Amino acid sequence: MKIRLLTAFPAAMLAGLLLSCATSIAANDDSGGLATLRGAPIPTSTSSGGDALKKAIESAPLDRDFTQQPPLVSHAVDDYPVTRNFNKCLDCHSWENYRKEKATKVSQSHFQAADGQELPNVSPRRYFCLQCHVPQVDARPLIANTYQRPTGAR
Ligand code: HEC
Ligand code: HEC
Repeated sequence: MKIRLLTAFPAAMLAGLLLSCATSIAANDDSGGLATLRGAPIPTSTSSGGDALKKAIESAPLDRDFTQQPPLVSHAVDDYPVTRNFNKCLDCHSWENYRKEKATKVSQSHFQAADGQELPNVSPRRYFCLQCHVPQVDARPLIANTYQRPTGAR
């Protein structure tokens, strides 16, 4: 008796939950089939808040805000893939090519392995450039603040 109750109850609950999910998704075309775990639809077409962050400002590189900051990328990066076997960024930013491409050469710090050893090429820990360098965009500070650039970064 006890066992039967335990198995029958969750099954009925699950069926009810699925039914309520299905009805609430159908009620809102905006959701694109997305819903929260409780079945509330998630509007997708109206959530365009982040679009401004997709547009890189293509201009001269912006000043750095602190001395150790990885400089912001002063161009779009959509067409510059970095995969296990290929790094498009180095086509222009390597020491070999930067003059020809009028790009900044990768910093010498990027040739240092984790143990401090100087390598003949960009260190694996600096290989995925976009881990640290992001395109410059017109993003307002999330919280108003009085931060000033340190004198060394001006
Ligand atoms: C087709 C050539 C080319 C490719 C590919 C390229 N860049 Fe650039 N990049 C440039 C040039 C040119 C500049 C501008 C340099 C300037 O104005 O001083 C630049 C600027 C930058 C800067 C700013 C440097 C500074 O002096 O502050 C960064 C950071 C950067 N690129 C990172 C990247 C990353 C990361 C990738 C790959 C996702 C990449 N770039 C791919 C040509 C390229
Ligand atoms: C782990 C973070 C990290 C990764 C990954 C990384 N960088 Fe950097 N990069 C920095 C920092 C921090 C600086 C500024 C300090 C310095 O020069 O080391 C910098 C500086 C630079 C500069 C400016 C050099 C100068 O003389 O002003 C260029 C250009 C650059 N990186 C390109 C690249 C490219 C291309 C890649 C990928 C092959 C890459 N970086 C990967 C953190 C990173």
